[in-house]
This record gives sequence, C-alpha cells and structure tokens, in this order.
Amino acid sequence: MKKLASYLFFFLCCGLARSELKTVRRCLRENVIVFPEQSTKNYVQLHANETMDFPGITVCLRFYTDESSRSQILFSLATPAEVNDFAISRSHANQYRLQVHGASVGFNGLPFKLTKWNSVCATWNSVRGVAQVFVDEVPSVQKAVAVKNPFKGDSKIVLGQSQKSYAGEDFNQDLAFTGFITDVHVYKEVLTPLLIKNFMEAKIKFKLGDYISWRKLKHTVAGSAAVEPRQFVTFYTNREEK
Ligand SMILES: *[C@@H]1O[C@H](CO)[C@@H](O)[C@H](O)[C@H]1NC(C)=O
Repeated sequence: MKKLASYLFFFLCCGLARSELKTVRRCLRENVIVFPEQSTKNYVQLHANETMDFPGITVCLRFYTDESSRSQILFSLATPAEVNDFAISRSHANQYRLQVHGASVGFNGLPFKLTKWNSVCATWNSVRGVAQVFVDEVPSVQKAVAVKNPFKGDSKIVLGQSQKSYAGEDFNQDLAFTGFITDVHVYKEVLTPLLIKNFMEAKIKFKLGDYISWRKLKHTVAGSAAVEPRQFVTFYTNREEK
C-alpha cells in the first residue's frame, strides 16, 4: 500500500506538480465524498483487491446534486482493454445511461430528486446480456446491450470523473460530477430485486459489496474532492438505524 501510494505520488507529482496523494483503506460508513467543483482535478479512485473475473456485475451508490440540466458521470470502471467497461451516468433529460464493454444504453422514466439523496443500482449479466437500472423505488425495464463477455482484467474505478483512458488522469470535464456520493458497493454478480430494495431503503442490514465495499474501502482522494461525515454536509437522518 505504501509502495502504491509513493508510486502514485511520484507519478502525479512529476506529471502535474500535485502536492499530496494518499491511498488509505478505511470504513466510510456514514461518510460521503464531496465534489465541490466541475474540474478534472477532483476525483476518487477505488482500489479493488483482485483482478475481475465474473459473469455479471451490480453497482450501487447514492448521489446528491443540484445539477439538473447537465450530464454527469456517477461511476466509471475502466480496464486496459476497454475504457468504458462499466459506467453509470445521469443525462440531462432525466435519463440514466449505462456503458457496458464500450456499448451504451439509456433508461427513461426513472426518478431524479434535485438536492436530495438518490439511490441507484445498475446490473448487467453476460449470460443474457441484459442491463437494468433501479432508482429509489423504481426498476427500469431490462435492455440488451454489449457483447456477452464476462468482466475480466484489472479494473480502474473512478468516482466523479468519466475516464478517457485507462492510464493516468485523463478525464472528460463535461461529465465531471458535482455534489455528494456515498455508499458505493460493487458486487461480482447480479443482485436480486429484493437485495437491491434493501440497499435502497438502507433500513435493514443490506448486503455489502464483495468486489468494492464502502465499509473497507481502499481509496485515493485527489484535488478538492474530500471525505466528510454525512452529518457535516446534510441533516442527520436515522436512515441506517438497526
Ligand atoms: C480486501 O482485502 C482487505 C484486507 O485483506 C479486506 O479487509 C477486505 O474485506 C477486502 N475487500 C473486499 C471487498 O473483499
């Protein structure tokens, strides 16, 4: 971990005169990541323990933003072979967009609440090749997208920025996220709607990610992005009381 941190430090320091970049693992329960400005300098990288080798995926997260008219990236997973191996974005027309193995598909009629928490889960499986997006209490239809290949290779997962290449900091500023993101979990399978509902409601103990877990998150924070306790940025709610 030290080695990776110093490597990242060296790499970015020399390239961009960045002053500090630390990778840590910690439990981010009740913490959010704040993205205060639309700049390609701000991002959070999530580090997985293992190389991907699974037939399906589920990504769940919650976001909070005051951007209604601009497309914003919520989650970006790149591999050396495919920069848009799995990405979730919200487009201007209240549409959510998924990218799977480089192919793209849009989902309409899903909720979006301005300056409130929105919970999103997106799934895709290589057996049927279908994607589905759930937002709060609404499931989308299922849509066929992408070649039916499993997820393989080393992932580079970034929050707050749309990756333009696997290497380095190469982001599309137009899609940069502003607002708050929390509770990011990545699962090596397609979760059932019941398990997804548990995540949405966050009242009972929901299933934690087995590929990326917010509760044991190895991550690197860059630029003006920052980790803050949830009750420091929004009102405290009893959402996760057991
Ligand atoms: C990754 O490895 C760490 C350290 O062994 C472990 O605590 C954590 O649960 C693992 N993360 C996932 C998502 O399996």
